[in-house]
Amino acid sequence: MARDKLDKVTASSLRTRKLGGRLVGDRIVAITAYDASFARLLDAAQVDVLMIGDSLGMVVQGLENTLAVTLEDVIYHTRAVVRGSSRALVVADLPFMSYQVSPEQALQSAGRLVKEGGAHAVKLEGGRSVCAAVTRMVDAGIPVMGHLGLTPQSVHVFGGFKVQARDEAARDRLLADARALERAGVFSLVLEAVPRAVAQWVTESVSVPTIGIGAGPECDGQVLVCYDLLGLFQGFVPRFVKRYAELGESVTAAVRNYVAEVRAGQFPEDRHSFADAPRAEGESPDEARYASGPSQASGPKGRA
Ligand code: KIV
Repeated sequence: MARDKLDKVTASSLRTRKLGGRLVGDRIVAITAYDASFARLLDAAQVDVLMIGDSLGMVVQGLENTLAVTLEDVIYHTRAVVRGSSRALVVADLPFMSYQVSPEQALQSAGRLVKEGGAHAVKLEGGRSVCAAVTRMVDAGIPVMGHLGLTPQSVHVFGGFKVQARDEAARDRLLADARALERAGVFSLVLEAVPRAVAQWVTESVSVPTIGIGAGPECDGQVLVCYDLLGLFQGFVPRFVKRYAELGESVTAAVRNYVAEVRAGQFPEDRHSFADAPRAEGESPDEARYASGPSQASGPKGRA
């Protein structure tokens, strides 16, 4: 099937890409997104899943970890991503302390992500301790994605962002959690920062697709934080990140040019400036609007 004819991705279409314990067809591609402009670009690249991760706390808000991100923050960013996307499944994170208190709290928070944010599904961190919440949300009609391994909301328990499930007991706990989430009704499962062999073992043991981040190539899909993949985040680069571009460097170089040209009086040129009266011919409706709109008459304010 031609790539531009791909159907809209849904939680159930994603779930059924794994049949009889094996992925059928292409691996699942997920990426984080936080605003409409990026969502449009990423959706055009035909990713399957756009995740409004609480990683927004680190890459957008400049925080050290994800713990201070609020439900309102995620709703705000989810709305923007939904507006910018058309094909991808939009999955919004339940932030720290928006679901841990009780299954009812989880349902209320997830309901707001769907109702106010427009999310198609929600994601939460944790294993057996969140299964009652998962079932409550799924029973209410909200598709849920799980997240195991390095669950960043537990950073203080782990003592840092460290690879998980490295000993036998932890591996067994991880598999038991994955199976419990599967029974509770998740449609998919993120595995973060666990050894490749462990991720493979879990992937082969559950019927729902696994989506890895720092979990090796045997997972049914992959997710990366878009700022990491595009080279926009200048902080620590984890080993599992591949930078497909260095947009951070391009941004600084472009803005250096702008700074130099403004300082030298080289920008704006005549072609970036408005005439007193609309140019009679060859002027687009936009140009005319910008030239004669109230914002021009009353000073340099808006774009419209
Ligand atoms: O917060 C986040 O961005 C995530 C994804 C990377 C899975 O949880």
